[in-house]
Amino acid sequence: IQQAAESLHVLNNFAQKFFTEQLLQTEEGQSHALTYLEERGYDEKIITHFQLGYNPQSRNAFATAALQNQFNKEVLLKSGLLVERNPASSAGREELFDNYRGRIIFPIHNNTGKIIGFGARVIGKADRAPKYINTPENEIYIKSKILYGSYFARHSIDKNNECLLVEGYTDVISLHQAGIDNVVASGGTSLTTDQLRIVKKYTNNLTIIYDGDAAGVKAAMRGLDMALEEGLNVKLVLIPDNEDPDSYVKKVGADAFKSFIAANKKDFILFQLDVLLKEAGDDITKKKEAVNQVAESLSKLNRAEDFTRRQAYIHECAAALKI
Ligand code: GTP
Ligand code: MN
Ligand code: MN
Ligand code: MN
Ligand code: MN
Repeated sequence: IQQAAESLHVLNNFAQKFFTEQLLQTEEGQSHALTYLEERGYDEKIITHFQLGYNPQSRNAFATAALQNQFNKEVLLKSGLLVERNPASSAGREELFDNYRGRIIFPIHNNTGKIIGFGARVIGKADRAPKYINTPENEIYIKSKILYGSYFARHSIDKNNECLLVEGYTDVISLHQAGIDNVVASGGTSLTTDQLRIVKKYTNNLTIIYDGDAAGVKAAMRGLDMALEEGLNVKLVLIPDNEDPDSYVKKVGADAFKSFIAANKKDFILFQLDVLLKEAGDDITKKKEAVNQVAESLSKLNRAEDFTRRQAYIHECAAALKI
């Protein structure tokens, strides 16, 4: 495993350099990908900081470079950078193809800054599905243990004693560019205990900033009980009007974004109570279920140091429920 991991690290490093060069130094990269990133408001400094790149449209631009550099096929396939296909023109022979053809490349780093995988986005409107392709699970890319951006955010999380959690790569990058750099992304999947433990290494205070759509709310609620069990203080903010942190910070600017977060962050338990009560309306049975669910969440606060906090929640919930 150690050796497989090391080969993957070396390959990913090579790939990142290749993709970045394609983005910044080639005509195709500049006219297709760099222009798109610049139109979205990313400057060259932030593009370089996050080591963004571009995989050309040709079916084997990266495959050719990697094979010339003696990377072996097994590692190349395991990395997800290449896939094996059987094209009509090849008379039955299998060929190695670039998996991320024509896509923007977002390298994903572990906590020590090593590249463990990639996210690859189509350019422009995502009419070509899927919008993102990610590295498949392998010895070093274990999705449940990754928070995108943690390497770039860790000092700032420590300093601010707060971690902001958003959904996407572009949210992390835009907030960084706006000077808000204690931020990581879950990559659109529901939170795992391992991800929460990464946060806990640096701070007890987690502020979840999700898209304000129904999917964002659902995703946020799923993380609640787990986060409480890990002993985190969880606050939540929903970004309004079909925006996400990326589009919203660009629309209103860094200062207004920070004020919005400060003014709207809500304690997670009270947020849950709000959502459940709104759903319940006048339905007595649903109201009862809401009470049960909140009680269940409160029961997760069972560490000695959480006692005061639990008491405070119980009072607030009782008041909100008029019980
Ligand atoms: P932009 O459209 O580039 O601003 O990305 P976004 O981050 O706003 O995308 P979105 O809110 O739709 O999704 C949030 C995160 O979920 C993304 O950053 C990805 O990590 C992940 N995601 C979104 N779409 C896909 C997909 O089609 N496949 C996979 N595997 N992940 C996706
Ligand atoms: Mn930074
Ligand atoms: Mn969304
Ligand atoms: Mn989004
Ligand atoms: Mn977005």
